[in-house]
Amino acid sequence: MPAYGIVGAQWGDEGKGKVVDFLAEKADMVVRFSGGSNAGHTVINDQGKFALHLVPSGIFWPHADAVIGPGVVVNPGTLLDELRGLQERGVATDRLYVSDHAHVVMPYHIQLDLLEEEARGAKAIGTTGRGIGPAYVDKIARIGIRIGDLLDADYLRGRLEAAVRQKNQVLTKIYGAEPIDFDQLFDECIEHGEALRSYVTSVESRIEVALAKGANILLEGAQGAMLDLDHGTYPYVTSSSVSIGGACTGLGIPPSEVRGIVGVFKAYSTRVGAGPLTAELDDEVGSKIRELAWEYGTTTGRPRRVGWFDGVAARYSASINGFTSCVLTRLDVLDGISPVKVCVAYEVDGKRLTSFPSRLRVQERCQPVWEELPGWTAPTAGITDRAQLPAEALAYVARIEELVRCPVDVISTGPKREESIVVRPILPDRAG
Ligand code: IMP
Repeated sequence: MPAYGIVGAQWGDEGKGKVVDFLAEKADMVVRFSGGSNAGHTVINDQGKFALHLVPSGIFWPHADAVIGPGVVVNPGTLLDELRGLQERGVATDRLYVSDHAHVVMPYHIQLDLLEEEARGAKAIGTTGRGIGPAYVDKIARIGIRIGDLLDADYLRGRLEAAVRQKNQVLTKIYGAEPIDFDQLFDECIEHGEALRSYVTSVESRIEVALAKGANILLEGAQGAMLDLDHGTYPYVTSSSVSIGGACTGLGIPPSEVRGIVGVFKAYSTRVGAGPLTAELDDEVGSKIRELAWEYGTTTGRPRRVGWFDGVAARYSASINGFTSCVLTRLDVLDGISPVKVCVAYEVDGKRLTSFPSRLRVQERCQPVWEELPGWTAPTAGITDRAQLPAEALAYVARIEELVRCPVDVISTGPKREESIVVRPILPDRAG
C-alpha cells in the first residue's frame, strides 16, 4: 500500500535528487509527478555524479522502477539525451517507464517561453526557458500533444496541425517571428516517438498494480512548494502543482494511499528567478554561502539568491503539504558560520506576522524578524551519526523542527548518498 511523497518545501533546489536517491534504497518504484526539464536534480553515488532533469532519481537502483508520470511535461529530445548520457556511463535505463499521458514540450513552447519573458521586461519571472509554462498552458487549453500521440502518426497529424496553426498565428502576428515548419516538426515528433516507444506505457495501471502488491513507492517532486502554481508567490511561480496534491492528480494515485509526506528543507534558503525572498542575505555571508555551497542553477547555471532559513515560509509550506517528516539538507554548509540566524516572523507596516501573507504586494514589503543562534565550529560534514553532531547544530535542527512543527527524520551532511544521518527511518523495508 504505501506511497511516500518527497516534496521540495522551499523554492526548489533543496537537494531532492540526493534525498530520493538515498531513500530509493527501500523503494520499489520512484515516480516523478510534476514539472519538466526545468528541474535539475544532482545525484552523487558510487556510479558517479549526475545531473538529472527528467529521469527520476531512483534510476540508479536496479531493484526500482523509475516512472515519469502523467503530470510531468516531457521534452522528448532532452529525455533521449539524458537516457543516452546515463547509458554511456553504465546506468541501466530498462526500468524506466514514461506515461503516455504526459504532455510533450514542443520547440514552439521553448520559443514562446523566451518571447513571453522578453515581453515581460522588468516584470520577467526569470523562468528556466525550458518551455514549461507554455506547455502547461496548452495542456489546460486542450491543444497539447501527449507522449502517446507521438506513437500514432494519423492522430498526431491532426492534433499537431491544429496546434501549429494556432502557434503560427501567435508567433507571426504577435511576436513577428518566423512560422513553424509543420513537416519538419512532424517528422521530428515521429522520430522521437519511435525512439521512446519501448518506454511508453500506461503508468496509472503500473502504479495500481504496485500499490496492490504492497510496494514502496516514492513520489518524487520537483521545484518547491513556494513555487507552486496555486499556493506559491504567484505570478513568480512555476506552472505546475508541485505540492503533495499535485502528486495525486499528477499520477492518478488516491490520497488515501499516501502514507507519508516528506518535506525536504535546506538548512538555509535559496531562490532562482524573481519574486519575494524575505530572508534574503545581500551581504558577504550570503556570498560566502553561495560560493561554499556552489549555489548556481543545475539547469541554467544562474547564481541562486541566498538567505537564512525562513521559518514563516517553512510553516506555510508544512501547512499546505501536511508533512509527516522533514529532511534537512546541506547542514554542513553552515559549518564555521557564527552566529546563524533564522527568520521567525515578518514585519510589515509596523505589524508582526507569523503566518505567511497571502498577497504578493504584502509579501514583497515584508521585513525579516531574526533570531540568532550560536553557530558551530566542529564540522558536521560527512557525519552519519546524530550523536556526533555539535550541540549547537542539534539546537539549530531542534529550532527548525519547532518552527515547521514536524520532526527532522533525516539530516544530510554532504552531497554523497552515504553522507546522511537517519534519525528515524522514513520508509519501511521493502516487502521483497
Ligand atoms: P519555469 O518553471 O521555467 O517556468 O520557471 C518559473 C520559476 O520557477 C522561475 O523563478 C524559475 O527559476 C523557478 N524554477 C523552475 N524550476 C526550478 C527548479 O528546479 N529549482 C529552482 N527554481 C526553479
